Amino acid sequence: MQVSNQLPVKHVSHTAWLVAAFRAQESERPDAHFKDNLASKLLGALETEYLSRFSEDAKTDHWLLTIRTCQIDQLILNAVQNGVTTILNLGAGLDTRPYRLPLPSSVNWYEADFPELIDYKNKTLIQDVPHCNLHRISADLSDAEQRRKVLRDIDGLSASTLVLTEGLLYYLTDQNVAELANELAETKSFNYWLMDIFNHSFIDVAHKLWNITPADLESDDVRFHFLPENMESFLKPLGWDLKQLLSFGQGAIDLDRFPKGYDLQKVESEKGLFESGVCLFTKSRR
Ligand SMILES: C[S@@+](CC[C@H](N)C(=O)[O-])C[C@H]1O[C@@H](n2cnc3c(N)ncnc32)[C@H](O)[C@@H]1O
Repeated sequence: MQVSNQLPVKHVSHTAWLVAAFRAQESERPDAHFKDNLASKLLGALETEYLSRFSEDAKTDHWLLTIRTCQIDQLILNAVQNGVTTILNLGAGLDTRPYRLPLPSSVNWYEADFPELIDYKNKTLIQDVPHCNLHRISADLSDAEQRRKVLRDIDGLSASTLVLTEGLLYYLTDQNVAELANELAETKSFNYWLMDIFNHSFIDVAHKLWNITPADLESDDVRFHFLPENMESFLKPLGWDLKQLLSFGQGAIDLDRFPKGYDLQKVESEKGLFESGVCLFTKSRR
């Protein structure tokens, strides 16, 4: 896999560039909800190339990632305030929260992703200083042995650990996600699992908004595999209870950021927007 010269999305790791491009766009807006100052640096020359693949509408219509980013920021800061001291970001991609969020320096933040992406990020951000202790781990998370080693190495380092899987799960298989849920439930210290979920009706809308065509998704790697009818029912028997859902619909209203062509009334009538969002699960197995 060569992450830097294949465009736009031929390997699942390339989706990291895609979401970073949207975060860079948001950061440049006068009404930006966050500033991800490192997104452009990480994208380098690819920023223009990625963005050029999108229609003008899609470029300005990155509301969903803005909402998702803000919701996850908020839930992470709440968790840290409530005693979480270790965070594991699985499929971290080009996320820069350890640099961007006002985290206490005592927080230990771990990022895991494919080796090529981790090497690239280490190299590109070598001069930048995160707010907390940041560690990066290379692993293919669909490989059970590699994934279990990541969890074993981090489990028990602190009393309360949060795992974040933002934009990751749908690229894994049902079996991978079920195994991951079980493995996390068996740990001593992973108490919280933060993730984004999409319901089926919403995925079609999201694909249309991002202007991603089937031809863009040439590799089987990049297809969405894991799309449970109901995430809460999927995770419950595996040891995880839904504690909080911040829906994309409510986020659109709160942040006053609507998809193009949607007004408040249309957002309020779109069920999919209120069943999809950012979810915090807590472990039910003790
Ligand atoms: C849509 S991106 C999201 C990146 C990041 N979480 C964010 O929101 O900016 C999906 C990420 O999951 C990573 N990923 C997907 N499958 C993976 C696997 N089997 N092992 C490791 N990382 C994986 C990709 O490399 C990519 O960085």
